[in-house]
Amino acid sequence: MKERIEALLKEIEEYKDKKESEIEEIRVKLLGKKGEITQLFDEFRNVLPEQKREFGQKLNQLKNAAAQKIEELKNMAAESSEASSASFDITKPGDAHEVGTRHPISITREEIINIFKKLGYAVAEGPEIEDDKHVFESLNFPPEHPARDMQDTFFVSTGYNPILLRTHTSSIQVRTMENVKPPIRVICPGRVFRNEAISARAHCIFHQVEGLYIDKNVSFADLKQAILMFVREFFGENAQIRMRPSYFPFTEPSAEVDVSCNICGGKGCNICKGTGWLEILGCGMVDPNVLEACGIDSKEYSGFAFGMGVERIAMLKWQVKDLRLYFENDARFLKEFETCL
Ligand code: PHE
Repeated sequence: MKERIEALLKEIEEYKDKKESEIEEIRVKLLGKKGEITQLFDEFRNVLPEQKREFGQKLNQLKNAAAQKIEELKNMAAESSEASSASFDITKPGDAHEVGTRHPISITREEIINIFKKLGYAVAEGPEIEDDKHVFESLNFPPEHPARDMQDTFFVSTGYNPILLRTHTSSIQVRTMENVKPPIRVICPGRVFRNEAISARAHCIFHQVEGLYIDKNVSFADLKQAILMFVREFFGENAQIRMRPSYFPFTEPSAEVDVSCNICGGKGCNICKGTGWLEILGCGMVDPNVLEACGIDSKEYSGFAFGMGVERIAMLKWQVKDLRLYFENDARFLKEFETCL
């Protein structure tokens, strides 16, 4: 028995580099139900009492050595199979991550803001969920005035001073006038919401950039020059503007501004519907009622305001015919603006 134990110990010691199936064979051969070590344990019953202690120790040693070896062989097999499956070349360059592009609306908004920054305007922002006071009341829309119909509104709550989604960023101008002493020169970019059916030309969410300039002796001529400067920077130095009388509750007088069509150069095409002009913004001299509502003395100060839709300006600049493309985020569309970063 002693020799068999010694021989098995030696055999176990020499096992190395076995495949998984071979390891299982070894396990069965040694420790299986009819395995050699199992058999030795059976025979142990017949060992003379005075030899039990010595053989018992040896047998346990053998059993542990076998179990340990099988564990080692398994670990080695697992490691080598990992290594062979990892047969990639670690010196190969990595897969490049595709870099996204900036959204055309962001590009346009940034461009508009940067032009006005050059004229000394600061950027002001405000909440998208607003109250009636800042969106309508302080801007000279009396509670039941039909002018509110111009901007169909999403209401969050009704009652006294309802909460609503702002329909224009003029609310930021109100907040600025309430908090800042003139002179004021701010540009107010932001997202606005109107209850409109979605079509190629209208959306219930869009972006505006509005501007406000308040100081002593500000005149309509100043307004016209600021708009002309913006248009020439944005559409090119040959761009022309024309102003048409219009109406907004918060400005008096008010005007709508057209820019000469940048596609046909003013001759008339299907983009400008043959007129040679494209409407780009609304503007006017801030109504004295608005100044007073915001705590500014209308006898001392005057000012102008203007507002434009970023999607509309972007559509004109890049001749995008369907506004919905700006919201669908189809990567093929967005990629076209890659070079405009
Ligand atoms: N708030 C107006 C709109 O959303 C735009 C505007 C701003 C017009 C300032 C005049 C002066 O349509």
